[in-house]
Amino acid sequence: EKSECVSLSPMREAVPAPPECERVCVFGTGDLGRSLGLRLLQAGYGVVFGSRRPHSSSLLLHGAQVLGHAAAAQSALLIFIAVQREHYDFLVPLANQLKGKVLVDVSNNLRKNQYPEANAEYLQSLVPGAEVVKGFNTLSAWSLQNGPSDANRQVYICGDSVEAKQVVMAVATKLGLSALDQGSLSVARELEDFPLQLFPQWRLPLRIAIGLSAAFFFYLLIRDIIYAYATQGEDISFRIMVSLANQVCPIVSLIMLSLCYLPGVLASFLQLYRGTKYRRFPNWLDSWMLCRKQLGLLSLGFAFLHVLYTLILPIRYYLMFWVTEHTVSLIRENKTTTFDTTTAWRGDSYLSLGILGFGLYVLLGITSLPSVSNVLSWREFSFVQSKLGHLTLLLCTAHTYLYGWNRFLSSSIYKWYTPPGYMLCLVLPSVVLLLKLLLITPCRTHTQNYTLSVIALSLRG
Ligand code: HEM
Repeated sequence: EKSECVSLSPMREAVPAPPECERVCVFGTGDLGRSLGLRLLQAGYGVVFGSRRPHSSSLLLHGAQVLGHAAAAQSALLIFIAVQREHYDFLVPLANQLKGKVLVDVSNNLRKNQYPEANAEYLQSLVPGAEVVKGFNTLSAWSLQNGPSDANRQVYICGDSVEAKQVVMAVATKLGLSALDQGSLSVARELEDFPLQLFPQWRLPLRIAIGLSAAFFFYLLIRDIIYAYATQGEDISFRIMVSLANQVCPIVSLIMLSLCYLPGVLASFLQLYRGTKYRRFPNWLDSWMLCRKQLGLLSLGFAFLHVLYTLILPIRYYLMFWVTEHTVSLIRENKTTTFDTTTAWRGDSYLSLGILGFGLYVLLGITSLPSVSNVLSWREFSFVQSKLGHLTLLLCTAHTYLYGWNRFLSSSIYKWYTPPGYMLCLVLPSVVLLLKLLLITPCRTHTQNYTLSVIALSLRG
C-alpha cells in the first residue's frame, strides 16, 4: 500500500499524514472532489484521494495523498463519493474494503426524476455492507473553495445509520457547516431534487406578476392608444413608454398587494365557518399563504417603478409642451383662470396618501428581510405585517380612489364601454378591505353576522 502512495508536494516526496490527524477519503477528482479535499485539508484532516491511476494522476492538491481505489478505501472510515452516478459500479468490486465504511453520496442530477431511485439509494444497493449517507449536495464547489457564507452554511444530510450520520455531522461541523439531519435514506430523493429547484416560492408570484402586467398592458394599449388612433386618427403611441408603464406598474402593484392579504381574510372566514382554528387549510390556501412574502416584495418592486415614473413626469417633453402651449394660448386669448381649491385638495390628498402608502410599503419590505425579522418577536412581526400591511393597502387604495375622484360618473371615460385600468384594479383591494372590516369590527350588527355566515358558507365549496 505504501508504494502506491503518491506525494503531491513540490518536493515529490511522500507526505505521511500526521498520526493525530483523522483521515478522510475522497473518491473523484472533479471540481467538487478537489474542493472538498481542499476544505478537508484546511480543516486539519488527512486527505486521501482514490484514483484509478494513482501514479499518473494530474491532481495537484498540496498535502493530499493519491492511492489506488482499494488502498484509499481501506485507509479511512469516511469516504466521500464525488463521482457521477453512471460510474458508481466501480465500487462493486471494492465491497470488502468498503464494509462498515461510511459513504457520503454528494451527487446531484441534471433534472428531476432522471432515475427510478435516488442516487444514494442506488449506491446503497451496490454496496450493501457500507453505510450510505446523502449530503453536501446543496453546496457548490465554488462555495466550498471560498468558504461557506452565511446563506449556504447549512447542509442537509440523511441516512439509515445514526452512527454514520454522526460521523458525517462531526466532519461538517469541523468544516464550518451546520448539518441538518433530515431523516432516513428515503429522503435522499428530496435532497437530490433540492438544488434543481429554481426559486420555487417565487414561481407563482412571478407568473401572477407577468400575467397581470401583460393583461393590463394590452387592455390599456387597446383602450388608450388604439382607441385614439381608431376614432380620431391620432397617433399617441409614444405614450407606451411612460404613460402606459406608469399605469401598468401601480395597477399590478395594488392588485398584488391585495393578493397578499386576501388569503389571510379567506383563512379567517374558513376558521369561522369551521368553528375551529385547529384544522389544516386546504392545500391551495396553504401554498398561497406561503408565497405572500414574495408576492409582497414583487408588488413593492412595481410600486417603486411607479414612484420613479411619477418623479420624471415633470421633465417629459410631452408635458412641458402642453403646459407652454396652454399658457401661450391663455395669453393670446387674454384669458385668466381661477384657482380651484377643490382640485388642489384632491391633487395634494392623493399624492400625500400615495407617499404615505409607499412609505409603509417600504417598511413592510424591510421587515420581511430575514436579518430584520429575526430581531423582531413574533408579535412585533405580525403587528407590522398584518396591521401596518392592511393600513398600507388602505392608503394605496384611498390614493387610487382619490386619483379617480368623480370621473367614473362621466360617460366619456368608458371608451368602447370599457372602464379605465385604475377602476378595475380597485375591485380586489376594496373587497379585501371590506372583508377585513367585517372581521375586525368588535360589535357585529345583525347584517354583518348574516354577511359573515353567507361568505363562510360560500367557502364551503
Ligand atoms: C396613480 C403618484 C404611490 C397606486 C398615480 C398618479 C400619480 C401618482 C401622479 C397619476 C399618474 C398619471 O396620471 O399617469 C404617486 C406617488 C406615490 C405613489 C407620488 C408615492 C411616492 C403609489 C402606491 C400605489 C399607487 C404605493 C400602490 C400600489 C396608484 C394607482 C394609480 C396611481 C393604482 C392609478 C394608475 C392609473 O392611471 O391607472 N400615482 N403614487 N401609487 N397610483 Fe400612485
